[in-house]
Amino acid sequence: MCGIIGYSGSFSAQKILLDGLEQLEYRGYDSAGIALLDEDGKLYLQKKAGMVSVLREACEAAPVEARCGIGHTRWATHGGVSDVNAHPHSCGQITLIHNGIIENYHEITAAFGFADRLRSETDTEVAACLLDHLYHGDPFETLVKAADILVGSYAFCILFQDHPGKIFCIRRVSPLVAAHGETGSFVASDLTALIARSRSYFVVPEATVMVLSAGEISLFDQNGHSVAPELLTVDWDVESAQKGGYPHFMLKEIHEQPDVLENTIRPRLFGGLPDFREEGIPDELFEKCENITILACGTAMYAGMVGKAIMEQILRLPVTVHIASEFRYDTPLLDEKTLTIVISQSGETIDTLAALRLARECGSRTLAIVNVKGSTIARESDYVLYTHAGPEIAVASTKAYMVQLAVLYLLTCRLALLKETFTRQEGRCFTEELLASSSSIRQVLQDDRAVKRAVKAVKRAENAFFIGRGLDYAFSLEGALKLKEISYIHAEAYAAGELKHGTIALIEEGTPVIALATQEKIFAKTVSNVREVKARGAAVILIAKAGAKTDPDVYDIRIDLPVEQDMFTVFPAAAVLQLLAYYTSDAKGLNVDKPRNLAKSVTVE
Ligand code: AGP
Repeated sequence: MCGIIGYSGSFSAQKILLDGLEQLEYRGYDSAGIALLDEDGKLYLQKKAGMVSVLREACEAAPVEARCGIGHTRWATHGGVSDVNAHPHSCGQITLIHNGIIENYHEITAAFGFADRLRSETDTEVAACLLDHLYHGDPFETLVKAADILVGSYAFCILFQDHPGKIFCIRRVSPLVAAHGETGSFVASDLTALIARSRSYFVVPEATVMVLSAGEISLFDQNGHSVAPELLTVDWDVESAQKGGYPHFMLKEIHEQPDVLENTIRPRLFGGLPDFREEGIPDELFEKCENITILACGTAMYAGMVGKAIMEQILRLPVTVHIASEFRYDTPLLDEKTLTIVISQSGETIDTLAALRLARECGSRTLAIVNVKGSTIARESDYVLYTHAGPEIAVASTKAYMVQLAVLYLLTCRLALLKETFTRQEGRCFTEELLASSSSIRQVLQDDRAVKRAVKAVKRAENAFFIGRGLDYAFSLEGALKLKEISYIHAEAYAAGELKHGTIALIEEGTPVIALATQEKIFAKTVSNVREVKARGAAVILIAKAGAKTDPDVYDIRIDLPVEQDMFTVFPAAAVLQLLAYYTSDAKGLNVDKPRNLAKSVTVE
C-alpha cells in the first residue's frame, strides 16, 4: 500500500507535494520521491530511501519552482528499499507513480524487450516503459491501450513531458480521489492529503482517464466521452481519514485482511501451485531440509505454532518453535539439515534478530517471513518471503498474523509437493481452500453480532481462558494474547485436555472460557472438556464450524465459522478472536491502537 499525490495549480508544487506525502506516510514509509514538470517541460526528479523527512531535506537543499508535479511514499512490494526503486519512475517521455501490483510485469518485460531499459527491480518501472513504448503524442490513447495490457491493480499519476501543467491518471482496484480547490487541482490515494485543500472531492471512477490541470479536472471514459464526477463532501478530520473512516487502525487492519491475504497468496501461485523461485528461493533449500525450526516473538511466534501444527501433520517432519528471546541464549540443536524460518512483521525485533544470527552460526539456512521490505531481519536472512499486508499501524498485530499464516501454508504446500506427500491435484485443492479463506474471513467480518454478544460475557472479567485441542490449541494462544494486550484482562490459552490437571481450580461462576472446537476428529473430546468447565459455572463462548452439532446447554454463546475443512478454520477463527479482543477493549474505553506499556516493534532486549 503506497501513498500517492499529484498537484497542478498556481502555487509551488514542491511544498504541497511534500506536505501531502507527510499526511500519507502511514500508507508506506520505506522510500519517497517527487517529480516536478515546469512550464517549459523541464523535469526535476528527487527520490530517496527513508522517510519523507529525508526527501524533504534533499528537496529543500535544491528548491525547484514548478507548479505541477507528483509525489509518492512507498511500501515496497516488488524490489528492495533503495533510491533507485523509489518512485517516481521515468522512461522516455513518461514519469509516473503507482500504487498497486502489476502481476504480469515479467511477461510485459519479455514481450516488449524492456530488460535493457530497466534500472530498478520494480513492476512500476516496467509500466513506465510500456507507456513510453505506446506513446505517439496522444496521452489518452496511450492509457487506453496500456489498460488493455496491464494485469493487476494500479492507480497511476503520470506526467507526459510534452504536456506541461497536466497530470494524467487511471486506476483499477487501487484507490484514487481528486479535488479542485482555489489553489488548483489535487489527486491522492486517499482523503488524508486532500482534506486541508478542499472539502469537496470525488472518487476517481475505475477505467476512466482523468486529466488534471491548474484550472480544471476532466474525466473521460474509454471511448473518449466526458464523464461527470460524483462530488462528495469531506466530513472527516485528518486522523480519521488515515483510518479510512474506521474508529481505530486496528479495526481497519482487521477488515483489510481478506485483501492482503489475496495479495500475499496470488503472486506466488503458478498454475494453482506455490512456487518461490521467482523470489530467489530455490527448491533445493526445501529438498535438503530434514527438520524445521521456527524463531519469532509474540504474535509472530504464535503464527509459528500454527505453522508447526500443519507442517508436522502434512510433511511428517519434526518442527520446533522457539521463543526467540529464549533461543538466543540457548545451545541450539541446529545444523545444516535444519531449515530455520524466522517470522517478524517489523523485521527489527531484536530478540528475533539475535536468534537468527545464532541459527546461522549453527550452519542452518534461514528463511525470513517479513512484512517490512529491506528490514534488518530480511537483509540478514539467506532468503526472504515478504508478506504484503501493507503498513500495520496498530500495536496489536492482526493482518500481519493472517498473512504470516498464509505464507506458512504456502511453504507447507511447496514442501509437500517436493517431498511428494501432496500430489499436484492435492496441492491445487489446498491452495484453492487457502485462497477461499479470504471469503470466510469476509463473512465473519460482515456479521459480528455473536462476537459482540460474547463481549458482554468477557469485558468485566479479570481472567479468561482460551481452550482447544490440536490446531485449535495452536491458534488459541494468539487469541489469548490479543485479549490480554489490548483489554488488560488476564487471559490464558490451555490445551483443553490439560485443564483438569490443575487449572480448572480457577474456574468459578461467570469465568469466561472461549472454547475452540473446530477440529472434527477431536470435536467430541473438546466438547467434553467444555462440559467440565460449564459444570463449574464458566460462561462458555463456543467457536465451532457452522455445521457442528452440540447440545445448547454446552455453551452460553456460540460463534459459527463459515468454513468446511479443519485445516483452514484458523483464518476465520483468528478474525473472530481479533474482533473479540478489539470490541472488548473498545467497550472498556481503552486505547485500542496504543495499549499501555507496549511498542509496535521491540527493538530493545
Ligand atoms: C502483537 O500483537 C504484539 N504486539 C507483539 O507480540 C509482536 O507480535 C511481537 O513483538 C513480534 O513483533 P514482530 O512480528 O515485528 O517481530
